[in-house]
Amino acid sequence: MKKVLIIQGPNLNMVGIREPGIYGSETIDTINAQAMAHAERLGLACEVFHSNSEGAIVDKIQEAFTAYDGIVINAGAYTHYSIAIRDAIAAIKKPVIEVHLSNVHARDEFRHKSVIAPVCVGGVFGFGKIGYKLALDALAELL
Ligand code: DQA
Repeated sequence: MKKVLIIQGPNLNMVGIREPGIYGSETIDTINAQAMAHAERLGLACEVFHSNSEGAIVDKIQEAFTAYDGIVINAGAYTHYSIAIRDAIAAIKKPVIEVHLSNVHARDEFRHKSVIAPVCVGGVFGFGKIGYKLALDALAELL
């Protein structure tokens, strides 16, 4: 069975409370549970990891080199400037799919740039929690 990891980055733990007009009012636990159930339907073993810390996310991505077959990542604000996360993704040579709940291109200009996009196989943004399911669908096909 293929093993995939969902990484939730900074402030994603506040989804449900945080700016509900942008991110919705469902909690991250509910969103994660629905994503996990979807992964199970796809025949994937799935784990969820959350951290607000850049270094902890880098450590987890590096773990994927041996422990996981692919990653779905919502790197939150780190998406827009973390070269460390980008380099970790490039290093592991495993398919990584970028997810954003909101349509980052319809928001502030600083959110239009993703430094991780060039090292990800693809990305999903603007579909809210459905984005995790779409990313898992893609990962299941790729694997
Ligand atoms: C986000 C978009 C980012 O710009 C923002 O910093 C987040 C959430 C999203 O899921 O829409 O924290 O990644």
